[in-house]
Amino acid sequence: MRVKVPATSANLGPGFDTLGLALAHYDELTVTAVAEPGAFVEVHGVGEGEVPTDETNLVVRSIAHAFESAGVPLPGLRLVANNVIPHGRGLGSSGAAIVSGVMAAKGLLDGIVDFDAERLLALATDLEGHPDNVAPALFGGLTIAWMSNRSPLHKKLMVHRGVSPLVFVPEHVMSTALARSLQPESVPHEDAVFNVSRSSLLVAALVQSPELLLAATEDKLHQNYRAGAMPETNRLITELRGAGFPAVVSGAGPSILVLCSDPAQRLAAAQLVADRAESRWQPLMLAVDFLGATVHRVDADAS
Ligand code: HSE
Repeated sequence: MRVKVPATSANLGPGFDTLGLALAHYDELTVTAVAEPGAFVEVHGVGEGEVPTDETNLVVRSIAHAFESAGVPLPGLRLVANNVIPHGRGLGSSGAAIVSGVMAAKGLLDGIVDFDAERLLALATDLEGHPDNVAPALFGGLTIAWMSNRSPLHKKLMVHRGVSPLVFVPEHVMSTALARSLQPESVPHEDAVFNVSRSSLLVAALVQSPELLLAATEDKLHQNYRAGAMPETNRLITELRGAGFPAVVSGAGPSILVLCSDPAQRLAAAQLVADRAESRWQPLMLAVDFLGATVHRVDADAS
């Protein structure tokens, strides 16, 4: 099976644990079921020499989780991963690994088990813990994800063609677990209302009215609480927003996502970061991915 999964940016400012956007930057994976039991993983690119190459590999665990949910014994597996999504930067690399696994399982069990969209989302969310990265990785576009009776559901929307994402990736990493530990147990009611208004507006801005993106990307639920753990991210976002660019923390950080309202705005934002950054930040001008993860069978000879 050959699987392709997009990077994702979650939260998008006010949509904490809810909104996510798929970005045209892809991890690719080939999975072969083999007679010999166990898992044999080869990693190229990002994570090479770092991520586990045995049964504890996150992609293998995700395939195993999907097989177990279907009550089908796991075959031996040979995996070859070609990764470009940076790890620990807030661009959905763990979600992409999990989605690669459940999509590979869907392909391997085609005709035996029906993995529909909601089942794929549930399997991926079981492992990721929250649905806001795995939903856009699975389905593409802009996704709204929510939990209903402990089950994740989603709505996919197409983004306005003017919306032009620009991501800045630093060399340092941020742990999602650490970022989540900085969140308070409760927030002031007025802050909750603030985010309800901005998050609602953000859906309209991304789908219909990109000129509203600066106002629509304000947030009081997570970014301030985490700012001390990623000071340069916070400073650059403040400078970008002060100059009129709709900049937010990408996921749990430390990357920055700028939701430019037209492609030309990206060059000016990239120049600002080049002028003001103290460390190295890689700018990535990415399109929105509208398809989400794909899986297809390849001939052994062609793989
Ligand atoms: N919504 C999540 C967070 C995304 O900000 O903690 C990171 O996985």
